[in-house]
Amino acid sequence: MSLFVFSQFLIVIVVCQAEHETCGVFPKDPVIKMGSEIQIMFGSPQGSFCGSVPFYSPHKLIWKLNDKKIAEDFYIVNSTMSAVTVQSSGMVTCYMHLHGVDVILGGTNITVLLPPVKPTKIHCILFAFEKFTCHWNSGENTVSGTEYTVYVTFTSCSGMMYSCTSKTDHCTIKSVILDTVNITVKAQNAVGSVESDIVRIDTLSIWKIGTPNITVKPLLHKLQVHWEIQEEDLFPDSAINCELLYQYENISESKGAKLGDAEIVVERPCVNYTVSVRCAPDTVVKKEYWSDWSRNITVLSLLDVKAVKIHLWRKIDAPDGRGYRRVMLMWKGVQPSCNIDGYKVTVGNLRSGEFSVLWFNILDSNTSLVLDGEMYRISIAVYKNDSTSPEVFITVPAIGEERPPVKELQAFPENSQLYVTWAPPQSPVNHYMVEWSSGDDDIGWLESQSTSTSLIGQPFKLYRITVSPIYDTWPGQEATLLAYFKEGGTCQ
Ligand SMILES: *[C@@H]1O[C@H](CO)[C@@H](O)[C@H](O)[C@H]1NC(C)=O
Ligand SMILES: *[C@@H]1O[C@H](CO)[C@@H](O)[C@H](O)[C@H]1NC(C)=O
Ligand SMILES: *[C@@H]1O[C@H](CO)[C@@H](O)[C@H](O)[C@H]1NC(C)=O
Ligand SMILES: *[C@@H]1O[C@H](CO)[C@@H](O)[C@H](O)[C@H]1NC(C)=O
Ligand SMILES: *[C@@H]1O[C@H](CO)[C@@H](O)[C@H](O)[C@H]1NC(C)=O
Ligand SMILES: *[C@@H]1O[C@H](CO)[C@@H](O)[C@H](O)[C@H]1NC(C)=O
Ligand SMILES: *[C@@H]1O[C@H](CO)[C@@H](O)[C@H](O)[C@H]1NC(C)=O
Ligand SMILES: *[C@@H]1O[C@H](CO)[C@@H](O)[C@H](O)[C@H]1NC(C)=O
Ligand SMILES: *[C@@H]1O[C@H](CO)[C@@H](O)[C@H](O)[C@H]1NC(C)=O
Repeated sequence: MSLFVFSQFLIVIVVCQAEHETCGVFPKDPVIKMGSEIQIMFGSPQGSFCGSVPFYSPHKLIWKLNDKKIAEDFYIVNSTMSAVTVQSSGMVTCYMHLHGVDVILGGTNITVLLPPVKPTKIHCILFAFEKFTCHWNSGENTVSGTEYTVYVTFTSCSGMMYSCTSKTDHCTIKSVILDTVNITVKAQNAVGSVESDIVRIDTLSIWKIGTPNITVKPLLHKLQVHWEIQEEDLFPDSAINCELLYQYENISESKGAKLGDAEIVVERPCVNYTVSVRCAPDTVVKKEYWSDWSRNITVLSLLDVKAVKIHLWRKIDAPDGRGYRRVMLMWKGVQPSCNIDGYKVTVGNLRSGEFSVLWFNILDSNTSLVLDGEMYRISIAVYKNDSTSPEVFITVPAIGEERPPVKELQAFPENSQLYVTWAPPQSPVNHYMVEWSSGDDDIGWLESQSTSTSLIGQPFKLYRITVSPIYDTWPGQEATLLAYFKEGGTCQ
C-alpha cells in the first residue's frame, strides 16, 4: 500500500513539473542583484495536482540550498504554499520527507550578479574599406554575462547610427564610417545597465590604412623603392606620411617619405638590404593608427665595377743562380658576395713589350709567377659581364735597378699591436707598402700614406716586417726588421 502511494506520488510530481505554472518551485533560475534577497516558493494552489498528493502539506516541505538544509527561520508557510527567503547563489531544492526518504519536489538555480561596471578608455580604429573596431576597458572584475553595445552616432547626418554588440571588450561594425561620431558603450546584464561617457572622435584621426605593397629595385649606388596603398585615390599624395625601414649587415635605419617613391643611398655594395614601409594619413597622430609594416623585401646592393679599387702587392724572392725570381702577387679585391666574374691579371715585360694575361676567379687572392731579371709591369682588374674596373699597376724592377729604401725603420710593441715608423727617402714617394709575416704562407700587407702604422698580429711570435716606398708605380728597395708583437723586444 505505502509503496503504491509512493509511486503514485512520483507520477504526480512529473506532471507537476510539466505544469509548473500551477504547481512547483518558482521562479525558475532567477538572477538577483548582489545584496538583495528573493523569495522562492513551492506553489500548490487549490485544485492543483500537488494539493491532492497524499500526506502533502506545505508545512511538511523542507528547503535546501546546495544540499544543506536552510534554517526554518527563513520559511514562510500558509495553508496553500511554502516559501523561503534566499540571499546567495546556488541550487535551491524543495523536499518532502516520505517513508524515511527525502523526495525532491523541485528546484531552482539562483544566480547572484553584480551590476556591470561603467566601460572606460574607449578607443576605436577605422580599418580602411573594411571595418570599424572599438575597444574598451570593461573593469577589472568584469562581470560575466554582461553584454556590451557600442553606439556610433554620426554628428553630421543626425539620426544615422550604427551599433554592434559583444560579450568581450571589443566589437566591430562592418562599415566604413567617415565622420565625426559620438561613441557610447552600454554595458548590460540581468541586474543592471550602465553607459560610458560619450567619446567624440573624428574618424579621420583613427584611420588605419591598408598595408602598403612595396617593390625594391637595386640600382648603382642606390635602391629605388616604390609602394602603393589601396586608399591612394582618397587622399592627395602629400596627405600621406610614410616611414621606410631598411637594414643591412647589423645596421638599421629609417627615414620618412611621402607616398610613392623613395631612394635609399647604398652605403655598402654586395650586401643584402631588407626594406619595408608603413604609412598613415597626416590626420593620424598616434603610431597605433599607422598601417602595418609592408612585407620585407630583400635585395642585394649592386657593385659599381667601375668604382672598384683593388689593392695589389708583390713579394719578390731573391734571384736564383740563373737570375730567375719567384714573385708572389697578392691582391685585395671585392668580397665573394659581389658575384663578379673574376680577376684579370696582365704581366708585361717592359723591355720587349710582350705580355701575358691570366684569369682568376673571385675566391683567388694570390698567385706565384717566375720572372727573369728584367723589369715587369703587372696590372689587375675586376671584370663582370661587360664591365671592367680600372686597372691597378705595380712594377717589378729589373735586378739591380731598385730605387732607394726608406730610412730609420723602427717598431715598438704597443698594447697588443706593433707600432712601426720610418723616415722617407730623399725623392718624393707616392705611398708605402708594409708587409708583415711570421712564415712564408702568412703574409699581411697594407698601403700607408704616412710614415707610420699600427699592425695587429699574434703575440710571442717573431714577425718579419718590410716597408717599401712606391715612387709613382715604381717600388723602391725593401727595408726589413724582425719584431715581436708582445714582449721579446725588437732586434735589427
Ligand atoms: C498564502 O500566501 C500567499 C503569498 O503570501 C498568498 O498569495 C495567499 O493568498 C496565501 N494563502 C492563504 C490561504 O492565506
Ligand atoms: C546554476 O547556474 C550557474 C550559473 O548560471 C551555473 O554555472 C550552474 O551550473 C547552474 N547549476 C545547476 C545545477 O544547473
Ligand atoms: C555628441 O555628443 C556631444 C557631447 O559630447 C553632444 O553635445 C552632441 O549633441 C552629440 N551629438 C549627437 C548627434 O548625438
Ligand atoms: C603589388 O604590386 C605588384 C606590382 O606593383 C602587383 O603585381 C601585385 O599584384 C600587388 N600586390 C597586391 C597584394 O596588391
Ligand atoms: C656590426 O658589424 C661590424 C662588422 O661586421 C662590427 O664591427 C660591429 O661591431 C657590429 N656592430 C654591432 C653593434 O653589432
Ligand atoms: C642575401 O639573402 C639571400 C636570401 O634572401 C641569401 O641567399 C644570400 O646569401 C644573402 N647574401 C648575402 C650577401 O648576405
Ligand atoms: C622584417 O624584418 C625585420 C628585421 O629583419 C623583422 O623584425 C620583421 O619581423 C620582418 N617583418 C616581416 C613581416 O617579416
Ligand atoms: C693564397 O691563396 C690561397 C687560396 O687561394 C690562400 O689559402 C693563401 O692563404 C693565400 N696566401 C697568401 C699569402 O695570401
Ligand atoms: C650581364 O649582361 C647581360 C646582357 O648584357 C644582362 O642580361 C645581365 O643582367 C647582366 N648581368 C649582371 C649581373 O649584370
